Amino acid sequence: MKNVRIMSVFGTRPEAIKMCPLVKELASRPGIESLCCVTAQHRQMLDSVLEVFGVRPDRDLDIMAPRQTLSHITSKCLLGMDEAIDHLKPDLILVHGDTSTTFAGALSAYYHQVAVGHVEAGLRTYDKYAPFPEEMNRVLTSSLADLHFCPTAGNRENLLREGRDPAGIFVTGNTVIDALKTTVRKDYHFTTDELNHLPYGEKKLILVTCHRRENYGEPMRNIMLALRQIAEENRDVELVYPVHLSPVVREAVDKYLRGAPRVHLTDPLPADEMHNLMDRCYMVMTDSGGLQEEAPALGKPVLVLRRETERPEAVAAGTVKLAGVVQDDIVTMGTRLIRDRNAYEAMAHAVNPYGDGQACRRIADAVEWRFGLRKERPSDYEA
Ligand code: UD1
Ligand code: UDP
Repeated sequence: MKNVRIMSVFGTRPEAIKMCPLVKELASRPGIESLCCVTAQHRQMLDSVLEVFGVRPDRDLDIMAPRQTLSHITSKCLLGMDEAIDHLKPDLILVHGDTSTTFAGALSAYYHQVAVGHVEAGLRTYDKYAPFPEEMNRVLTSSLADLHFCPTAGNRENLLREGRDPAGIFVTGNTVIDALKTTVRKDYHFTTDELNHLPYGEKKLILVTCHRRENYGEPMRNIMLALRQIAEENRDVELVYPVHLSPVVREAVDKYLRGAPRVHLTDPLPADEMHNLMDRCYMVMTDSGGLQEEAPALGKPVLVLRRETERPEAVAAGTVKLAGVVQDDIVTMGTRLIRDRNAYEAMAHAVNPYGDGQACRRIADAVEWRFGLRKERPSDYEA
């Protein structure tokens, strides 16, 4: 019997961190040919993840351009995918999450009448413009997908409410927890030397990231000014902020935050460095989706620098709070966690609503089941 050809498609840093463990899991299964096509919507930040996980793509569409527009990404992905699909002839295309690569990858699969599996399916805010354009990327990808791999039971409920076929929905946990289990080590030594010399334990280290398109402009200015104020007003705090390569983000950082006392700005960190830094920090302030999943697993309180979240599970568990995008609100909530031990302790407990580190195994089992390589449907992940 011929091997089943499964092509994973991704292009940005978070997709790569969450898909590389799956590409490897699929490659370990007899009967499956695990293929990998990267769009390189992110270039340097993608390459860094591929190196950390040791994954070599079969196709690289190399589409990134400075300050690329959404139309640029989508159209370049579609054109590149035509050749990749014609050449690699997949039986199933796996896409991940909510980026423009995700949507274009799923649309291209549909144009070629190849089945689509959506990893990290079913997240919703029900606000078309927040997060933008991720909410619609998710909805549109769900419409194109045949298999939906949901991190949580809540994500599954969202899809059922939309009338999706339950036969194609699997609750697997999030593959980010699988990734985290391979990267975090107590004896980890940073290759970015500055990180070896941070005052862990002596000072309260706040890990910061910020990049979302809907935060461009006024919200991002407010966030940067709030971070500056927190650093200026709290001598026992150090902020560590690996700055995203987006020129829009870097401009805001340079204008409003650079030069503030107790603020360490670095280039983006390799995923293993980032995960181990998170493991050693006091708390996290971020607008990132992935950090909202990783930090709770490591017992780190998270203040989310957004108005909404599509990841309500850790909010319900009490380790994540929405801080919004107004300067005073962010400063008030940040200062409370720095100064009020009880408020901090109430949030600093490890919860893991997003997975048990077995998501890739469940997804690979479901793929095998779908192609008749396995008799039993895998059972759902329960938090
Ligand atoms: C993209 C995703 C977003 C995801 C984020 C993760 C879309 C529309 N957005 O947003 O959902 O949360 O990735 O980080 O799919 N750049 C580089 N080198 C890199 C990466 C980016 O120079 O390695 C610069 C380029 O100028 C690029 C810009 O950053 O044009 C923005 O990248 P883009 O992928 O368009 O948007 P992100 O904000 O990164
Ligand atoms: N990350 C990283 N290096 C950094 C910043 C983030 O490896 O300098 C990781 C982070 O740990 C998480 C993922 O990148 O796994 C999140 O990516 P990002 O915030 O860019 O996207 P989002 O999750 O918001 O889509």
